[in-house]
Amino acid sequence: MYAGSAPQVTAAELGVLAITALGAAVIRAEPTTVAGVAYLEIELDGEPRPDVLGQLAGAHALFVREGQLLRPVPLARTERLDDDLLTIPKYPGRTNEQFTRVLLNVTLASTAWAGEMTQRRFTVLDPLAGRGTTLSWALALGHDAVGVEIERREVEAYAAFLTTWLRRKRLKHQIDLHPLRRSGTHVADLLEAQLSPDPAAYRSGDRQRLTLYAADTLATPDLLQNRTVDAVVTDAPYGVAHGSRAGVARDRSPAELLSLAVPRWTSVLRSGGAVGIAWNTHGLARGDLSAICADAGLEVCDAPPYLGFAHRVDAGIHRDILVARKP
Ligand SMILES: C[S@@+](CC[C@H](N)C(=O)[O-])C[C@H]1O[C@@H](n2cnc3c(N)ncnc32)[C@H](O)[C@@H]1O
Repeated sequence: MYAGSAPQVTAAELGVLAITALGAAVIRAEPTTVAGVAYLEIELDGEPRPDVLGQLAGAHALFVREGQLLRPVPLARTERLDDDLLTIPKYPGRTNEQFTRVLLNVTLASTAWAGEMTQRRFTVLDPLAGRGTTLSWALALGHDAVGVEIERREVEAYAAFLTTWLRRKRLKHQIDLHPLRRSGTHVADLLEAQLSPDPAAYRSGDRQRLTLYAADTLATPDLLQNRTVDAVVTDAPYGVAHGSRAGVARDRSPAELLSLAVPRWTSVLRSGGAVGIAWNTHGLARGDLSAICADAGLEVCDAPPYLGFAHRVDAGIHRDILVARKP
């Protein structure tokens, strides 16, 4: 489903990273086959930062071509948690984990802090979080994760999975799903977790934080403080398999939901932050989503690599990525 498009999407991802973070320009990036195995062959101008190259969602191994031979080059990895955090969960409506990492990478690479994307701890918000694929990637890559998801059962399912996973990995952590009350009124249910792969760091209070609200995404400005998020990274409802169903969003198309939600997400984003949205172009044209973002005060990224992500998922879904910056 996604695998066939992966080389094209990876080439676009590399192109975006090259604009801000890679330290080298892309001369060529095209799929090739060597001895029956598929590779993406890339030609760069300049010495690429290995840590940024190693971020590529589709990077499994790196080789330099020397005549007929491939010489292996160590691939710098920045994952802090085991990859089964991303590979174990299977459920309908899940966003492909490799694609989710592309979306996260290109959004972080479009922020004002792109050059530090492999070292800085970003605060990443997925305001349509589902069962947490974006949140898990944010944690795996050393960031803080914040989510909003309208379906309480999705939040409960993610809480159950993460609780078991953290215990099984014997990581130092706290995790708790509880009601959030303000002025005596129940406003949402809230999953909160703190963790660190390093026990000494955990003891000293240096912990990654996860916060997931079971709430309508339109309430995001009531739940989070203004200008506290570095990146909004989200896969919008597709309407086909799992459209917006509940609360204010009932029966709305993603277009209506996004036109109401994007300004609210923008209010919690810091200046210099970026929004990355994956969506089904059958329900909403790129130009219309760009207009929604521009109306919210965002600057849409339209350099050529940003226009290379569109791909077919199935008969009903043609997916694309739009990234926009908050000045
Ligand atoms: C494409 S799915 C996201 C899947 C997620 N990336 C994952 O892999 O688990 C979109 C999610 O948006 C949620 N959603 C739809 N309308 C919403 C709203 N108004 N507020 C919050 N979440 C909403 C849906 O329940 C669904 O879980």
